[in-house]
Amino acid sequence: MSVKTIENNHLYWDGCDTVALAQKYGTPLYVLSENAILQRTQELHRDFLAKYDNVRVAFASKAFNTVAMCQLIAREGLSLDVVSGGELYTAMKAGFPGEHIEFNGNNKSQAELEMAVAYGVGRIIVDGLTEVERLAEICRRLQKTAKILFRITPEITVDTHDFISTGQKDSKFGIPLNPEILFPQIEAAIALPEIEFYGLHFHIGSQLSDNSTHLAAAKVALSLVNEIKERYDFTIKELNYGGGFGVEYVEGDVRQPYGYFLEPLMALTEAYCGEHGLLRPNIVIEPGRSLVAEAGISLHTIGEIKTLPGLRTYAAIDGGMTDNIRPGLYQADYTGLVANKAAAKRTESVTISGKACESTDILMKDLPVPPLSAGDIFVTFTTGAYGYSMASNYNKLPIPAVVLVKDGQDQLIVARQSYEQMIQNERFLEEWR
Ligand SMILES: Cc1ncc(COP(=O)(O)O)c(C=O)c1O
Repeated sequence: MSVKTIENNHLYWDGCDTVALAQKYGTPLYVLSENAILQRTQELHRDFLAKYDNVRVAFASKAFNTVAMCQLIAREGLSLDVVSGGELYTAMKAGFPGEHIEFNGNNKSQAELEMAVAYGVGRIIVDGLTEVERLAEICRRLQKTAKILFRITPEITVDTHDFISTGQKDSKFGIPLNPEILFPQIEAAIALPEIEFYGLHFHIGSQLSDNSTHLAAAKVALSLVNEIKERYDFTIKELNYGGGFGVEYVEGDVRQPYGYFLEPLMALTEAYCGEHGLLRPNIVIEPGRSLVAEAGISLHTIGEIKTLPGLRTYAAIDGGMTDNIRPGLYQADYTGLVANKAAAKRTESVTISGKACESTDILMKDLPVPPLSAGDIFVTFTTGAYGYSMASNYNKLPIPAVVLVKDGQDQLIVARQSYEQMIQNERFLEEWR
């Protein structure tokens, strides 16, 4: 069921009038539908968690990491993936249980690893050649142990933008498959008493709508499980198949149901383990975008409208690349509409530009819209993932507020950043103090 409805020419999101939300909280504003998130978590429960034994879902919180979101994920019975001390700190403040947190990241600092070990994070996904040794030293000092997986680079090229492709051979992510690099890491992990070597992890890329590359990567991981068994008589307990499941940004994008990826992945895993006499490892996935992207919209107010005769009309919004960097960063496509003219005929065509001082700050080109005027509320769809979490203060624009809506009720989960907060860490020149 869609959370998007139109009443009295206004766009409603999960029962809330978006024009009223813009008036109440100001713009730019992120609006997140709780029901839309729950539709996805329920699908995961039905088609994965309840269907197979020993499986887990860890929400990749980089997509949208706030205290309230961590609490929602805990309430819905999922684990949480974090990639930095900041994301971990947010989870800790939310009271997220340490044993259900997984810590990824290709260059974890000493302080971050210490924080994770001290908090008792459930899995550390090792993605650096010095990490196991550093982790073991921290564990000895803190008298703890750490459960680890190695993120491998499965050498799979995926069908997505190069900038969100991560599993190819030439990648900054993962431990290379080269046996001279990989196996010494595995031997160290098996030998170190402070390290509980649990398994292998891959994440091949993002915004994928074809399951063949996940399957190809899983075959690489499974053959390593077998090789590790044969070489070391060591049983891998867990495989993490990452995230990357695509969503619908614009017409033509395909959002596959989770089962489209997970059913064949589970069948492949069970068949491979059966054939090779292996215990089927726990299977973990790490969806980020697919849980929150479509639940979120952004609201902006239209300001200047400029028509260049014979060329195009620009309509400028009161945000842009600072609250949605993806179009500027890798030409990501979005669509939108005018919230206060939601049912009106779209007789004109405009290019939606942001207010940042960069020519690349263009959100949508040649979008059909009704006749526009300053003060209209513009909605961008599918901004729930990698919008707020990638927001910046470029041009000293404050980070927008985030409102969670459900069944016509709204609650503020992130307050708008103030000018004062933006400069709170800045210091006067000595002669001015
Ligand atoms: C290790 C890891 N896991 C999971 C994800 C989530 O990917 P997505 O948001 O495409 O599901 C990412 C995204 O960058 C990642 O790097």
